[in-house]
Amino acid sequence: MRISVIGCGHVGLVVAACLAKLGNKVTAVDTDGEKVKLVNTKVSPISEPGLEEILSKVNIEATRDYSPIRDSEIIFICVPTPSTEDGSISLEYITQATKQIAAVLKEEKGYRLIVVKSTVIPGTTEEVIVPILEGLGKRAGHDFGVCMTPEFLSEGSAINDYMNPARIIIGEYDKRSGDRLSSLYQNFNAPTLRVNLKTAEMIKYVSNAFLTTKISFINEIGNICKQLGIDTYEVAKGIGLDERIGAKFLNAGIGFGGPCLPKDLKALIAKARQTGYQPRILAEVLNLNNGQALKMIDLLKKHISLKDSSVGVLGLSYKPQTDDVKDSLAITVIDTLLKERARVKAYDPWAMPNFSKLFPQIEYVTSEGVLRCDAVLVLTEWEEFEHLDYKGKVVIDGRKIAKAKEARIYEGICW
Ligand code: UGA
Repeated sequence: MRISVIGCGHVGLVVAACLAKLGNKVTAVDTDGEKVKLVNTKVSPISEPGLEEILSKVNIEATRDYSPIRDSEIIFICVPTPSTEDGSISLEYITQATKQIAAVLKEEKGYRLIVVKSTVIPGTTEEVIVPILEGLGKRAGHDFGVCMTPEFLSEGSAINDYMNPARIIIGEYDKRSGDRLSSLYQNFNAPTLRVNLKTAEMIKYVSNAFLTTKISFINEIGNICKQLGIDTYEVAKGIGLDERIGAKFLNAGIGFGGPCLPKDLKALIAKARQTGYQPRILAEVLNLNNGQALKMIDLLKKHISLKDSSVGVLGLSYKPQTDDVKDSLAITVIDTLLKERARVKAYDPWAMPNFSKLFPQIEYVTSEGVLRCDAVLVLTEWEEFEHLDYKGKVVIDGRKIAKAKEARIYEGICW
């Protein structure tokens, strides 16, 4: 099929690359000229394992200009929907993109399908996107179709997540729209659920809200286990063997960060409140997470006084296999260390260039440099941290690094 993908961020590029790999003719549109140039020279503007290899083998036409989308049968919208001050999402980019699509399609004959893949609050596609598309005289369900299909890609495993999805959710304006999107997905071997637009939007938020709930739940259990001298990870293994509970997302630690989980949880809470409902579980999941990383500081203070001490930090990205530092809990921890006048030295295999834009005032060193500090905090579970020599050190571990237990003084955040 001929496909356009609007937005060359993490989601858009992975979608574009995978659809091209599957034999579709893909055009990628982004307002950022630098990104467009990189994609056209088959270089990935983001770090995602396997992505550049696909880009090197396929032919994606990247452009800043929307006009080539007129040749596409399906147009995916994959632009960001960032958080605003009150936790709700900003629709600035998605409305801009939709206006541009509407302007191009205004002059065209022939049915096109527009698919929202950006994460948007339930009701957005129907109440915001469709009216913009119809604003220039075309009719949804007649001149064009509309779907909303949420993405379930995790950074670091996004290519595999796209190629081997656990499920495909198709939110459809009408049957014709859903049929066209289904035909694109026909070779995927995954259960497919066809629902209306706002149900699809809600499924995305509830998936992420459930994952955050699981993490805050096991962190709370971990905090109790620590008081009782019980290893939370053994408890998690024990309960995870029950299929109704499941073993995944029960890794206790400093909590969840990153570009998606905190943002989506806040947006769902904000939307619920707007409707007049006060969500209690979701609000507590967020509260627990906000406090969890700071436990690292409390534990550290039991062993050293922070003022003028050197504190080493292992791990700055919000999780391993990415250089992404968006809402990384390392930000909360390092911010507090600096307020307490500690001298911070940090190491991360991939994320130091990104983190140094946020914190130019700390020192970036090797892992050995970190281990020479008065105390060490482990904030991301990079595999290489399993091979360091922690003997004789003071280590506060936020991510359960087995080798770190060899330290002279070792404390797990909740084990
Ligand atoms: C998350 C979801 O897992 C994806 O399914 C979803 O598509 C994506 O958001 C999105 O909405 O785009 P991602 O943010 O890439 O993916 O990363 P996760 O693997 O979910 O990790 C998020 C955070 O939770 C990390 O800080 C990680 O360290 C933390 N986490 C995860 C835990 O603390 N414990 C766990 O057991 C699992």
